Amino acid sequence: MGVGIIGLGKYVPEKVLTNHDLESVLDTTDEWIRSRTGIEARHIAADDENTSHMAIKATQIAIDNAGIKPEQIGLILVATVSPDQGFPSVACQLTEHFGIQCAAMDIAAACSGFIYGLVTAQQFLENNSYEYVLVVGVEKLSKVTDWNDRNTAILFGDGACAAVMTKVSEGRGILASELGADGSGGKHLYLNEENHIAMNGREVFKFAVRQMGESAVQVLEKAGLQKEDCDFLIPHQANIRIMEAARERLNLPEEKMSKTVHKYGNTSAASIGLSLAEELEQGKIKDDDIVVLVGFGGGLTWGAVTIRWGK
Ligand code: ACO
Repeated sequence: MGVGIIGLGKYVPEKVLTNHDLESVLDTTDEWIRSRTGIEARHIAADDENTSHMAIKATQIAIDNAGIKPEQIGLILVATVSPDQGFPSVACQLTEHFGIQCAAMDIAAACSGFIYGLVTAQQFLENNSYEYVLVVGVEKLSKVTDWNDRNTAILFGDGACAAVMTKVSEGRGILASELGADGSGGKHLYLNEENHIAMNGREVFKFAVRQMGESAVQVLEKAGLQKEDCDFLIPHQANIRIMEAARERLNLPEEKMSKTVHKYGNTSAASIGLSLAEELEQGKIKDDDIVVLVGFGGGLTWGAVTIRWGK
């Protein structure tokens, strides 16, 4: 048997903040942001809409799409670096909302968090600990963004994704995975004492360009596949230039890479699942397609999975 995703959900808050909106409060231009990052807009949660609220919305859609009841979930993993509070975890808040009791914990691996969640869930499903595991990626980065810092304020957005995982047919689901972390790069991207994202953009950029391409190639090789076997690439949506470097490393045509960064910005742990859900909605991923998900983030962390899509 394999282990795979049987239901996905996504959610973004209603309010859109465009580059033009930022032009009026920061020393920046739409042209600069667009050409350096590919971002045109991002969604921002309302003051009274917290991380857990967005997680609940994406989860409801995922469990409906999976056709299961909340009480069938044995483990909830929530990838986030912007929880409502240190504890209870967002995962515990989800158990309260859905009126269930099960194992629940948050994962802090920044933008790689959703991949860390998928791979962690896979272990528990393979060893038969649980029948269904819920993996959520959710961020309210707007509350940890320094809105006076043009280096970072232009990049981030809010949103959520959720995936229900269970056993699927042999040969489908997660075929290979790759997780990593190197704390020596932690100083380049972190939450500072003011609880704001602090970043050395150039260092993170260099790391990301190298790591995303390498991880994508490695996770295909681990699955016994070649670059040309990849049908669709879902890279972490941080910066179109970083994403393009990964796509070129795999020699993929433009239409085979997911691109949502222009409208959502970088939603950290939510970004990969959000993009995956969107591509599925648009029918771009079909049964038996080989899909590579790859991300990098604060830590510094990285992660990738090769999935053969379908149940
Ligand atoms: N508007 C106008 N000018 C700006 C802005 C802005 N918003 N931000 C920076 N600049 C200026 C800089 O001050 C610099 O000016 P200087 O040359 O006079 O010093 C100039 O633009 C060029 O700056 P660079 O840093 O060289 O610009 P670069 O092309 O590297 O782009 C960017 C910067 C977009 C931040 C890029 O480095 C990047 O995307 N890095 C990766 C960031 C990332 O992905 N972080 C998220 C990681 S995921 C997570 O875990 C949260």
